Amino acid sequence: MGLHKAIVFSITPFDTAIKEEGYLLNISSDEIRITASTGAGSFYAIQTLIQLLPVEQQTRLKIPAAAIADEPQYKWRGMHLDCSRHFFSKEEIKKYLDLMALYKFNTFHWHLTDDQGWRIEIKKYPLLTQISSTRKETVIGHPKDTGNKFDRKPYSGYYSQEDIKEIIAYATERHITIVPEIEMPGHSVAALAAYPQYSCTGGPFEPMTIWGVSNEVFCAGNDSTFSFIENILSEVCALFPGKYIHIGGDECPKDRWKTCAKCQARIKKEKLANEAELQSYFTKRIVNYLTAKGKTVIGWDEILEGGLAPGAIVMSWRGTSGGIAAAEQEHYVVMSPGNPCYFDHYQSKKINEEPLAIGGYNPLPAVYDYVPTPKKLSPDKTPYILGAQGNVWTEYIPDFSHVEYMALPRMCALAEALWTDPENKNYKGFIRRLTIQSKLLDAKNVNYDNKFIKKK
Ligand code: ACM
Ligand code: ZN
Repeated sequence: MGLHKAIVFSITPFDTAIKEEGYLLNISSDEIRITASTGAGSFYAIQTLIQLLPVEQQTRLKIPAAAIADEPQYKWRGMHLDCSRHFFSKEEIKKYLDLMALYKFNTFHWHLTDDQGWRIEIKKYPLLTQISSTRKETVIGHPKDTGNKFDRKPYSGYYSQEDIKEIIAYATERHITIVPEIEMPGHSVAALAAYPQYSCTGGPFEPMTIWGVSNEVFCAGNDSTFSFIENILSEVCALFPGKYIHIGGDECPKDRWKTCAKCQARIKKEKLANEAELQSYFTKRIVNYLTAKGKTVIGWDEILEGGLAPGAIVMSWRGTSGGIAAAEQEHYVVMSPGNPCYFDHYQSKKINEEPLAIGGYNPLPAVYDYVPTPKKLSPDKTPYILGAQGNVWTEYIPDFSHVEYMALPRMCALAEALWTDPENKNYKGFIRRLTIQSKLLDAKNVNYDNKFIKKK
């Protein structure tokens, strides 16, 4: 007992045994000693300490004695949030970042643009926030059940560049890098509603009020489309200090390109075989632009089709085959296969007892047991698997409390899949620890799905 007891931090040089993001945490009756080689490592030691602290008010604070040597298995420990289909406030994004930090995630993939809403202020193109950030109404329920009934209420929201700077600073303090996503060439109807001259047909369009995939996409034959996108990306690059920019690339129907004179002229001039190669041309042109700005491009696995741009990172969502193909070609890969990384899917089979979801079934044990490095991958290519990410698409998630319900506790399970040495993983142990942890989530007012707690 005594006031002299301390938490002692020491930073060791990089050439010691402690790796980047790793730490030693020694808790004895005399002191708590944290040793790391980076600020991130010290930060993660503190998160572990927070997880060990009792949540209830006590007269004496008791922490178990421990000697922990810890480091992550994977570099990319990501969570994604779709802020286009539904918009979440600055405070809600900060709460998401707090939860990510608690579970040692280091990458926030911020889905800022899509067909149903553009959510980032771009100073050069004010109509993106005046027009593209508002849809006139939103479809109610699941299309397979409702036959497209609408709520008749305008829906809007966007982050100003000042908001974004504040959120980046908040994330940086928590050792989280933000990867902004600007979707192209598909999922761009909201942008085209304000700037229809960059489509193949000239419009008119409005931000979509239903979910799904639109045939209206950016025109790949028009040079001014590229200037428009590059001017947007120039502001995005100036705002976000991280090295990664996500350019989407998924679900781009080629219908318009097939009948557009400009797109067809481009195919001819560039000697492209087909519209898939036109998308590859599109991606490569944007990759060249962003590479010259010192950024690394990430795209959904469709960017493989028609040939992968040099240096691009593939985010594998349609299963793992795209990720495997990219890694075999020595491209870095982030795994985010629908199964089990899509946290907008149901987490219970009793769907009548669950809030409406898009479909699917990704229960907690499947997430816990996930191994990001595919067994099929050649052993010498495994270093190309950077890690994995949980995705929270929000077509059917209208408010943040529902985001929490879908994300937790699945993100806790993913956190262990990404951090913990597989030899130390144990689902029963996870549930026991998570049950204790749930008090911390209660104290933070997190609306997690609590079905993992065994009823006494
Ligand atoms: C996606 O889910 N369309 C990437
Ligand atoms: Zn076109």
